[in-house]
Amino acid sequence: MAKRTVVTMPGDGIGKQVLPEALKVLDAVGFDADYVHADIGWECWRNEGNALPQRTIDLLAKHKLGLFGAITSKPNKAAQVELKPELRSKGYVYYSPIVTMRQRFNLDVCVRPCVGFAGNPLNYIRKKSGVGFEEPRIDSTVFRQNTEGMYAGIEWTNPPENVRAALATHGKFKPFADVPGPDIAISVRVITRSAARRIVAAAFEYAKKRSFKGVTICEKPNVVRETSGMMEETAKEVAQNYPGIALWSTNIDAQLMWLNKNPEDYNVIVASNLFGDILSDAFAGLVGGLGFAASGNIGQEVAVFEPTHGSAPKYAELDPPIVNPIAMILSAAMMIDHIGETEKANRIREAIAGVICEGKIRTYDMLRLPGGPNVISQGAASTLQMTDAILEKLGKPQTSARRVSQPAAREYAKTSA
Ligand code: NAI
Ligand code: MG
Repeated sequence: MAKRTVVTMPGDGIGKQVLPEALKVLDAVGFDADYVHADIGWECWRNEGNALPQRTIDLLAKHKLGLFGAITSKPNKAAQVELKPELRSKGYVYYSPIVTMRQRFNLDVCVRPCVGFAGNPLNYIRKKSGVGFEEPRIDSTVFRQNTEGMYAGIEWTNPPENVRAALATHGKFKPFADVPGPDIAISVRVITRSAARRIVAAAFEYAKKRSFKGVTICEKPNVVRETSGMMEETAKEVAQNYPGIALWSTNIDAQLMWLNKNPEDYNVIVASNLFGDILSDAFAGLVGGLGFAASGNIGQEVAVFEPTHGSAPKYAELDPPIVNPIAMILSAAMMIDHIGETEKANRIREAIAGVICEGKIRTYDMLRLPGGPNVISQGAASTLQMTDAILEKLGKPQTSARRVSQPAAREYAKTSA
């Protein structure tokens, strides 16, 4: 396989702590790649008025494969205050760089696996009908449409007159017609048939590969009739191409209730953007939470992999770092799986499973400790100790030298100092 270049975007806060850990693990399984650092996040916003600089877009466009840590994001008013003085009042508007990246490269298929590892003390358990508890094995993957729906970004407070006029052509707008502009906010939910088809087909392809017997489309077509209706209708159409796989349909509200009762029944769930976001966090909570939640944002040309957690600023400065690197490492495994290095990806997942099952090394979240500098003295492993345990399982004890192309290495050292 030709050597790949991976664009590494540590971003902010704990993103800078966990991303280098994933690179150590990729090295340990012999994934042979060059890494090129790219800037993204809050510092870029503060210094340049743009959280996703053009140079980062160019690198992604060139290399087509990205590994991303996390960014800090704040509402626009708070963002304006932190802009460096000479950029203030120049009309810069803060946009989330992740949402922008997803839309810029049409990374429309978001894959979020929520797979329980045996021995994880954070796993979901439930009371048996008789005495005692049981721990069903959860192996669910959420396919979330990543560019449209409620996150399309078409919204207003005080919508312009022509928008109000257009809305007034709908009978249901009547009760809102006299609400003063500043007192009404509108967000538009957009679903297109082609994007719906792509996300549903991705879900069915995955079900086929894993020999799962069904795919669940989770929407709310009884109430949100047009957009959820189109999602469901498209799912039925796509399902015709997969005669061996059933299509089940649930409503988002009921689905969250089912997750509390029998999460093991759902292996593949597909949903529009907001519902998929909610579902994947809800599922992640059943298999260990944010320290375990990996994801891929996959487009037709470019793909970017990231843990679903954010920058956790309150832990960003701790030395040694305490956060769990597993979500980031699992995201790196997804990335190499995506480009055909499945055997190496599986070795990473098996090594993680081994460490968790053994139960000797656990980060603070796995011990249910409140995070903070004291967790190490309370028996929690640091971020680096967790990685070391995984490296040891891979037969590469201690931190192997990371393979980074020279200019990128210098850049990397500079920004992660
Ligand atoms: P967060 O995910 O950064 O942290 C929430 C809490 O989850 C943390 O305080 C910590 O207790 C726990 N946590 C997160 N990652 C963990 C890990 N690897 N190991 C152990 N525990 C972990 O979300 P929060 O606090 O809502 O947001 C912080 C910043 O991150 C905000 O600026 C937000 O906008 C941004 N954010 C960025 C995301 C991204 O880059 N994809 C996603 C979510 C939030
Ligand atoms: Mg989320």
